[in-house]
Amino acid sequence: MDMEVTAWTSLHSAMNAQKDRRPFTRATLRRIAAFARPHRGRIGRFLLLSVVTALLAVATPVLAGGVVDAIVRGDGTGTVTRLALLIALIAVCEAGLGLLTRWLSATLGEGLILDLRTAVFDHVQRMPVAFFTRTRTGALVSRLNNDVIGAQRAFSNTLSGVVSNLVTLLLTLAVMLTISWQITLLALVLLPVFVVPARRMGSRMASLQREAAGHNATMGTQMTERFSAPGATLIKLFGRPSDESAAFAARAGRVRDIGIRTAMLQSTFITALTLVSALALALVYGLGGYYALRGSLEPGAVVALALLLTRLYAPLTALAGARVEVMSAMVSFERVFEILDLKPLIAEKPDARRVPDGPVSVEFDGVSFGYPSADKVSLASLEEVATLDSRGGTRVLHDVSFTAAPGRMIALVGSSGAGKSTIAQLLPRLYDTDAGTVRLNGVDVRDLTADSIRETLGMVTQDGHLFHESVRANLLLARPDATEDDIWDALRRSRLDGLVASLPDGLDTVVGERGYRLSGGERQRLTIARLLLARQRVVILDEATAHLDSTSEAAVQEALAEALEGRTAVVIAHRLSTVRAADLILVVEDGRIVERGTHEELLSIGGRYEELYRTQFERPGREEEARPVG
Ligand SMILES: Nc1ncnc2c1ncn2[C@@H]1O[C@H](COP(=O)(O)OP(=O)(O)O)[C@@H](O)[C@H]1O
Ligand SMILES: [Mg+2]
Repeated sequence: MDMEVTAWTSLHSAMNAQKDRRPFTRATLRRIAAFARPHRGRIGRFLLLSVVTALLAVATPVLAGGVVDAIVRGDGTGTVTRLALLIALIAVCEAGLGLLTRWLSATLGEGLILDLRTAVFDHVQRMPVAFFTRTRTGALVSRLNNDVIGAQRAFSNTLSGVVSNLVTLLLTLAVMLTISWQITLLALVLLPVFVVPARRMGSRMASLQREAAGHNATMGTQMTERFSAPGATLIKLFGRPSDESAAFAARAGRVRDIGIRTAMLQSTFITALTLVSALALALVYGLGGYYALRGSLEPGAVVALALLLTRLYAPLTALAGARVEVMSAMVSFERVFEILDLKPLIAEKPDARRVPDGPVSVEFDGVSFGYPSADKVSLASLEEVATLDSRGGTRVLHDVSFTAAPGRMIALVGSSGAGKSTIAQLLPRLYDTDAGTVRLNGVDVRDLTADSIRETLGMVTQDGHLFHESVRANLLLARPDATEDDIWDALRRSRLDGLVASLPDGLDTVVGERGYRLSGGERQRLTIARLLLARQRVVILDEATAHLDSTSEAAVQEALAEALEGRTAVVIAHRLSTVRAADLILVVEDGRIVERGTHEELLSIGGRYEELYRTQFERPGREEEARPVG
């Protein structure tokens, strides 16, 4: 029964995958071959073993027939014993070879998973930020898991399935035909009776499975979105838990119905298969017995035919589904290659250099920029849309030029949506400009290595991100070789030492997904500690304290003052104190720098800055004069 189940499963899962079938190119095959090449020795041994196993499988029934003939002929016990011993030996060999084949196919399959996974992970990791702002994490993760495993199936299941089944089938048929071609042909007449409905059932099954997969995916999304700290909070505040549960239950219910229907279809199929092969067996016994009684067939031949027949049906079913299974594996391969083929928009030049030593100047020279459109950075299948948006590219920055001398602080002010954060993101080359140049210490960022930009430039944003890891791991991200003392020093300077010391596991406390186990101010100070630890020469602060209450803001502000000391800084400010301390203030509106100068200069011209000063800074400004902040 086992083999039939496997055959059946492969048949329907393969049909399942047929849904997004596309023509395959020779190029895909060549690439698959390239992935297989390092394993070719093993593949060869594996195929050889499959053939040997198939040969052994055919030998046993023939030997069994020999035993019957020996009995009928009344040969001595010697012959029977020898044959029995041979059958036993073959059984032992089959067992050993089975293990060996399985080991080879597992090593091959898992090795391929490893190769593909690491290739995809490495590639995706190098994609620009723009890619991640568009793609759905779930789709990406499924590519890494499901498709990689689908592709692996081509190597273990299909390879072994097709080869060993084909060999078994041909050998069995050949042997059966030589024993009695009439009986063999008659026994095969029954075959279409079950293969034809099996195909129809397979496609019915495929559509059911597809529907179930859709429901499962939706439930998955519902869970990942609702069961995150911010999602759960939103539901508590605004959502209707009973509606959520009802929607979930409806989907889960449909999945249950499909599960039952699938089980029944499957079992009907297997029952039909068993029945057909049992009928064929009856035919062999009846017809074979008739011939044997008339003396035109040895009794042993009847036994051999019957035994061979039982081994014929499983490979037949498996092969019926093989073509589709190969297709499905190819689809998976293509989906994996699709990711590997995505050209990163931002790539390091082969001759990229390091940021020159010493204090760093920051320069924007005639920079114009628009966010890239979706079709440039992503894949339709990852965004789960039919076609990608080719719109976009509307200018966000127009001819922006400024220079921050080494060790100086530049403040960017302006209304929300003016383009300040965009300016900040161009500095570490998260995006490339459309026109103009961004320079660090006089060198175009496009000529610098990503590593050296990372070492030179630090950024803190409003929602500093933390990984679901320990405090220590989150800090070491900035500088993996930092000592325990360095870490505590950074924590002290970001006013977090007391808090971390009081945590049950200290530095090893896991801060929770996105740092949700800390308050906003604590989280922010932890990202500042990270900045202090990294000791980068340029610091960008993008409204780093905008969302904090005044007590935590005071602490964060002190920490920031430490972080900025002696460094070149670009500060996107919403506080007057920061703005005042700046050596140069740039007023950004609609992607243009509309005013520039010091606080006093800008106030005296009475333009946009003065307006901002009155509306945005004046009131908090008065409060903060009393507070000792940096
Ligand atoms: N990832 C993005 N893709 C497309 N447009 C964006 C993206 N981020 C920001 N924008 C747009 O760019 C403009 C400037 O945004 P931003 O630089 O964040 O403004 P600010 O920081 O000054 O408030 C806004 O119109 C915003 O909608
Ligand atoms: Mg912003």
